[in-house]
Amino acid sequence: MGSAAGGGYPQWNCLCDVCQLYWAGDSRVAARSQSSIAATADGVNWLLLNASPDLRSQILASAPFSPMRRKAAGVRRATPLAAVLVTNGDVDHVAGLLTLREKQPFDLYGTAGVLGVIADNPVFSVLDPTCVTTCAVRPGEAFEPVPGLSVEIFPVPGKVPLYLETGDVDIGAEGDMTVGVRLAAHGKTAYYIPGCASVPDHLAERVRDGDVLLFDGTVFEDDEMHRAGVGSKTGRRMGHMPIQGDGGSLHAFDGLGLKDRVYIHINNTNPILVEGSRQRRTIEAAGWRIARDGMEIVP
Ligand code: MLT
Ligand code: MN
Ligand code: ZN
Repeated sequence: MGSAAGGGYPQWNCLCDVCQLYWAGDSRVAARSQSSIAATADGVNWLLLNASPDLRSQILASAPFSPMRRKAAGVRRATPLAAVLVTNGDVDHVAGLLTLREKQPFDLYGTAGVLGVIADNPVFSVLDPTCVTTCAVRPGEAFEPVPGLSVEIFPVPGKVPLYLETGDVDIGAEGDMTVGVRLAAHGKTAYYIPGCASVPDHLAERVRDGDVLLFDGTVFEDDEMHRAGVGSKTGRRMGHMPIQGDGGSLHAFDGLGLKDRVYIHINNTNPILVEGSRQRRTIEAAGWRIARDGMEIVP
């Protein structure tokens, strides 16, 4: 639904080189909305994975999410988005929950930690608890949020949301603040890991059975924000490993037999957004695709 990182592409106030291409109308770049995917096993009931601030326009852009798909006699409120799973508490992954108010029943899944962060923020009480059922899930316990779709979460190296950072921030902790997701249906498996600070061997091993891997493509180089003149934070400090360089993701999944590897959650400074750029050619030569809004993947 949305292939960009927080802020989207272009970011509303950004004049980095990559955003400037968009503002100038360059045909090598396309706008991308913020981080979200949706998954279905039956083509009718969908699991939304992360609720981005762009959720309303993402729904408007996608026929499968129209309430008309659930039209029935006497029904006046309906949606194919039957359940939502959040992989962390970052703004780009939870702000869209506010769009899902309006007395619509759905199930909200996440770790106890991330659901706790949401519950502690009174603005999310607009999700009426008589409509929205929160379901804390634990690693290793498969659940079926929509018919036929088996889902499992697992911790990945991450951190607390930016707005909860205090003092020394533990970056790369494998706890319940950042998770990856395994989606399985019809004998096919996909992994979705939009935020990840590093790939330890056990993580690479875990995704080995994936037909598809959607992985954190936030920054190409660790010091990209600094080079772009838009900040001093490294990708790793933000909980996002770079694509290129020592310990980068480019080759972290080589040799596992993964059929389809796709970068997602791409920051507006990342030159892989530019068709034909050296960085785009680098990821393509290494066997990766780049996600785009509206992309459909049928494993
Ligand atoms: C991230 O992925 O690091 C967050 O979305 C940053 C943010 O809160 O803007
Ligand atoms: Mn993000
Ligand atoms: Zn930018």
